[in-house]
Amino acid sequence: MIKSICCIGAGYVGGPTMAVIAQKCPHIKVTVVDLNEARIAAWNAADLSKLPVYEPGLDAVVAEARGRNLFFSTEVDRAIEEAEMIFISVNTPTKTYGVGKGMAADLKYIELCARQIARVAKSDKIVVEKSTLPVRTASAINEILDHTGNGVQFQILSNPEFLAEGTAMEDLFAPDRVLIGGDTTPEGQKAIQALVDIYANWVPKENILTTNVWSSELSKLTANAFLAQRVSSINAMSELCEKTGADVNEVARAIGLDSRIGSKFLKASVGFGGSCFQKDILNLVYIAKSYGLHEVADYWEQVIIMNDHQKRRFAKNIISTLYNTVSGKKIAFLGWAFKKDTNDTRESAAIYVADDLMGEQAHIAVFDPKVEKVQMLSDINYLNTRSEHDNEKLLSTFSDPYEACHNAHAIAVLTEWDEFKTYDWQKIYDGMLKPAFVFDGRNILNKHELEKIGFVYQGIGMM
Ligand code: NAD
Ligand code: UGA
Repeated sequence: MIKSICCIGAGYVGGPTMAVIAQKCPHIKVTVVDLNEARIAAWNAADLSKLPVYEPGLDAVVAEARGRNLFFSTEVDRAIEEAEMIFISVNTPTKTYGVGKGMAADLKYIELCARQIARVAKSDKIVVEKSTLPVRTASAINEILDHTGNGVQFQILSNPEFLAEGTAMEDLFAPDRVLIGGDTTPEGQKAIQALVDIYANWVPKENILTTNVWSSELSKLTANAFLAQRVSSINAMSELCEKTGADVNEVARAIGLDSRIGSKFLKASVGFGGSCFQKDILNLVYIAKSYGLHEVADYWEQVIIMNDHQKRRFAKNIISTLYNTVSGKKIAFLGWAFKKDTNDTRESAAIYVADDLMGEQAHIAVFDPKVEKVQMLSDINYLNTRSEHDNEKLLSTFSDPYEACHNAHAIAVLTEWDEFKTYDWQKIYDGMLKPAFVFDGRNILNKHELEKIGFVYQGIGMM
């Protein structure tokens, strides 16, 4: 039975996943390591509101397990040496250079981990791919680990993570399934069983699925591609609804009641964001192309093309509705995170919509309950569209939503935070310039009530 595990990468996946394993398996010592000292310090913060990842319910789990059998550390070598099982949970972003730039997954952090494990390990280890990886990455890791020359045996498992941010704790406590891929050899099967035994501490056996490594790796990319495709599909319909008088919420409800389609993931929006959908689909497209499967690649690429279109047309609609000019106008943004209940802003639609509007010299005034100003500025600066100085002039942030909306020409809802629904909209209206516009990129506000107050309201996929 495994008694000691280590996880390399203390991010949005490594942190919450290991916290739950530690909570559910008090007999296992769990050490989460990262090169980023500030991040580790934040995981060790006495004040639990300072944890680097915001997830409802995470603080309580960390409070229970931290210091008992859950540890956060920057001593990577030591944790590797001590552990019988090592999870690799580092980032695998889209490559920004060289071959496959803008498409392929950048595996340099994965390779560094593999080399570090190969260098440090003095006893046999099970290495678990937790990061989302291109299919067949396990063979590359295997080759690196096979050349240590010190006789240590490694088994490589693929155990992709399916949690969604904002609901990470519920997803980890009661996963639809846990997927574990491994070698078909007896040693491979033994390694699979060791990981099954860990999850079996709280996940029903029938929800733990075992496959070969390649199916497991590819299933993760496939799941994200299917989920993102649903969002792009409903968003494509939203544009048609706006032309025809159909209401996308009604269409989604009508089709969602068909049990073959199902009702989840049919919310039309300003476009999907997050660190994974785009990255993983681009990676899938790249893999398909590399095998010469151009029709497969084009099919999936359309999901991204549609999503880019949805973000751009949201900004365009604001500009054309505000009499074709937003220059010098204050536009309040409610929300910057890529979805509610997270402080993560990676690939958030808000960034792209803000950038388009700032290109037209609009002044963007943002309120988000969990995102700090420095993060918003860093997101916009990363696009390199204009100087950092200009970005600071055009983007301001507020810690009070009413102030953000004061004297604004328009409000754009970019994130579906629940609290936006219960604001005093009369008070907001009174403080705005007239006509007062609301562009609801999440369809969360009550159109009729807002219109009764006097707002000009536009949602996604409705007239
Ligand atoms: P993240 O950027 O939040 O965290 C990754 C961490 O790894 C960083 O803190 C980084 O400093 C650390 N790191 C990188 N190289 C390292 C090294 N050599 N040694 C030690 N630490 C190192 O990323 P994330 O969102 O947690 O995602 C991690 C992986 O999980 C990705 O492959 C992603 O696709 C996948 N995934 C993410 C989610 C999600 O919701 N965020 C869900 C499922 C799967
Ligand atoms: C997604 C998947 O849901 C997870 O299963 C997966 O593990 C994860 O990616 C990953 O691999 O990183 P996440 O990106 O955290 O999780 O959040 P989602 O709930 O999937 O939302 C993604 C984006 O789609 C958000 O911007 C969200 O607002 C948008 N979305 C989602 C819609 O616009 N409409 C919907 O109906 C659903």
